[in-house]
Parts: sequence; C-alpha cells; structure tokens
Amino acid sequence: MQVARTPADLRAVIAGWQRQGQSVGLVPTMGALHEGHLSLVTLAKQKADRAVATIFVNPAQFGPNEDFQRYPRQEDADLALLESAGCDLAYLPGVEVMYPKDFATSITVAGVSQGLCGDCRPGHFAGVATVVTKLLLQALPDLAVFGEKDYQQLQVIKRLVADLDIPVRILGAPTLREADGLAKSSRNAYLTPEERRLAPLLFRQLSQAAQRIHDGAGATETCRDVIRALLAAGFDKADYVEVRDAATLAAIEHAKGPARILAALWLGRTRLIDNLPID
Ligand code: PAF
Repeated sequence: MQVARTPADLRAVIAGWQRQGQSVGLVPTMGALHEGHLSLVTLAKQKADRAVATIFVNPAQFGPNEDFQRYPRQEDADLALLESAGCDLAYLPGVEVMYPKDFATSITVAGVSQGLCGDCRPGHFAGVATVVTKLLLQALPDLAVFGEKDYQQLQVIKRLVADLDIPVRILGAPTLREADGLAKSSRNAYLTPEERRLAPLLFRQLSQAAQRIHDGAGATETCRDVIRALLAAGFDKADYVEVRDAATLAAIEHAKGPARILAALWLGRTRLIDNLPID
C-alpha cells in the first residue's frame, strides 16, 4: 500500500491509475478505524479497480466543546488495517496542508444540513461539506463511499456533489453492528463497561419503533416513547429521535414512502447516533 501526504502526491498516483484505464474509489475517514470502515474499503474495491482511504481528523467539523482533542488517533494501527483490507493508497494530509493559514472558504448545504445533528452541532455539516469537497477535488476519484451510520452526512454529501457538479458517484454503505446490535463507531471506545452494556438498547428501541411506524403508528408519539424508554434505562440525554423522509430528510408523521428513523442520545460523555430504514 502506498502512502501520500500531499495533494500533489495523491493526485500523481491516482492520475497514473486513471491513465491506465483503472477506476478509483475513495473512502474518506477520520481514522481510529474499525470493521465498519474496512467494509467501506471492501465496497470501494468491489466497485472500482483501486481503493484510496483518507485519514484526517478534521478540526472544522468539531464544535469548541466537542471531542476534537480526545478523538482517538492511531496512525500505525490504521495503516496496517487498511493494508489488510486491500487498500491501495492511504492519504494522510496534515492540518496545514488542508487548511493553510490563509484558508477562507466554507461550504454550506441548506435543507438537508438543517435539523437533527445540524441543530445540535452548529457548523458541523459546513465543516464536513468543506473537507469532503476538498478531498474529492484533490483525489478526483470515480466514486466515493460513505457509511449510512452518518445518514444525514451522506445526504449532505449527495446534495453538494449534485449541486456543485462534482463528477463522482456517491455510494452509501450499510451500518456494521456489534453482535448485540450496537452500531460500530470509533466513539464506542469512550464508553465505560456500564455504558457499553446499555448502549445496544438504542438499536433495540429504534428497531421496535421502526416496526411500529411501518405498521401505521404516528412518528411523534413513537419517538417520544423511545426517548422515554432510553432515559428510564439510564441514557443521560436525548438530542433527538425523529422520523424523516429518507431522501429529503423532511419531517414526516406517517411513513408513506421510504423513511428513516434517526436518533442521537448521550451516555455519559459519549454521544451515540444511529438510524434505521422504515420500509
Ligand atoms: O464520517 C467521517 O468520518 C467524517 O465526517 C468524514 C466524512 C471523513 C469527513 O471528515
């Protein structure tokens, strides 16, 4: 596996492959890799000739009181995992490469960025949209893969790629889960043993709620019940549990077409997000 740390080195390798007629799939990550990320690399390898993973803990998408400083960083272990997953190139730009001191641009995506995590984490999706746009333009891949675990992020990225005519195909990949249903996440490492025991209740509650809404129950009351049950079980705070149209993320009360139930709750100092389809 090759490693690049500047846009010029990244582009040189990718352009060489593309000149030979090989297609390239990009997998943007913030490192602290787990099997969920590796499944994105596997999908990129299935859909393209070459897989490129990026590792960059993007300061622009963390709020002032969020976990940027304590976000897990494990470069050597991540590189070994990427190599074992068949990744062809890892791109690890430094902060000064991505955001030189005169950097002045921010990309905001209206509509799908609003509500849900967009309300709880002001500026988060502008930070995501800006860095993803930069990564796509630096790499110019044929396709890019993002996890459905960050469902709102996936919709934001699809919107910006369409709006800015970036010539790349965006693929969503299903959420990987632990045996007890907890969605795999780099932030699961923050959980204490007691919090880890409670965490899968989120998936269980969302699964039951998705079934109820599919069977005709109203979203408002069902989501309220989920929050009540999770707080009673020991969750500390609910940011939201909501039902949205699967593509536009518009709020809906009854699921008539493809819909999604999405949630963000806190267990101690750890914010867990998850979502499931209602179809
Ligand atoms: O999902 C993530 O890990 C990040 O938000 C992303 C897409 C790599 C942008 O920093």
